[in-house]
Amino acid sequence: MMRLRRLRQTAAVRSLFTETSVTPRHLVQPYFVVPGRDIKRETRPGYGLWQLSAEHLREEALLLARAGVGGMMLFGVPESKRDDGQGLAAQLEPLRQAIAEVKSAAPELPLFADVCLCAYTTHGHCGLVRGHEVLNDESVKVLAEMSVLFASWGVDFVCPSDMMDGRVRAIRAALDGHGHTNTSIVSYAIKMASAFYGPFREAAHSAPSFGDRKSYQMPAHNRREARRELLADVDEGADALLVKPALSNLDLLRDAREATDVPLFAYQVSGEYATLRAAGDAGLIDFERAVEETLVSIRRAGADVVVTYAARPWALRG
Ligand code: PBG
Repeated sequence: MMRLRRLRQTAAVRSLFTETSVTPRHLVQPYFVVPGRDIKRETRPGYGLWQLSAEHLREEALLLARAGVGGMMLFGVPESKRDDGQGLAAQLEPLRQAIAEVKSAAPELPLFADVCLCAYTTHGHCGLVRGHEVLNDESVKVLAEMSVLFASWGVDFVCPSDMMDGRVRAIRAALDGHGHTNTSIVSYAIKMASAFYGPFREAAHSAPSFGDRKSYQMPAHNRREARRELLADVDEGADALLVKPALSNLDLLRDAREATDVPLFAYQVSGEYATLRAAGDAGLIDFERAVEETLVSIRRAGADVVVTYAARPWALRG
């Protein structure tokens, strides 16, 4: 008789036949960079969203590098917002400082920077707006400029999360045009208009002040459309693709794995992590084990890399 339990008898045997691994090097930790000095706060204690002033990124970079974490992803929370797409360099000043800290402390640690306008505009949309319309091509120009600034400051990967059409091609052209041929693009290819971004918007001060993001982020209902998003971004020159939220899109992650050989990222977003945390705090589940189980599932579905608020605590766990 076939007895599948034979290979589950001891920890050593189970370990021998483990098909999917999750190690710190598969994980990337997000941070929110705020203006000012000596700021280090978790927006809600235990929920993993850290706002840090630039100088604190140095010790974080050293710590992640020592723990073998795969990389660090930076989101900017600017001092002031504006809606004309001008004055980007001033708005990004805290990020410029953070990037300098990280690159001098841990030059080898892969450094990712988010490219989007939602945190930089008063209306909180991911692009420029006229009336209530989120403008595509005008926004793409600003996103390309932002990418060039990040590249010139030493970021290894720019990560457009805005979901405007054609931005990967425009960003690639702008980077190349400025000599940043070695800066990579991780494109948010499949990004759903999701209810799971709540804690992030709180940390980034980026909630839309009117309407929602449904005219640019994808509907969760559409599998074929997700494939078109993927293939478009590959065609435009993305070096890696990202799917998010992770847990509610494991099927699309698997589709993506089969549709292309481009490296795949999955983002376990703020609301996914918060859901696990809240259930853990309520005594309903074992938080750490649940986190591990989700990371295994996301890797098994086809993600090479997982962006997750669990990266740092996971790597440092006892
Ligand atoms: C910016 C952006 C968002 C996230 C990553 N980049 C939020 C949004 O689209 O409103 C969400 C990540 C998270 O929830 O952890 N556009």
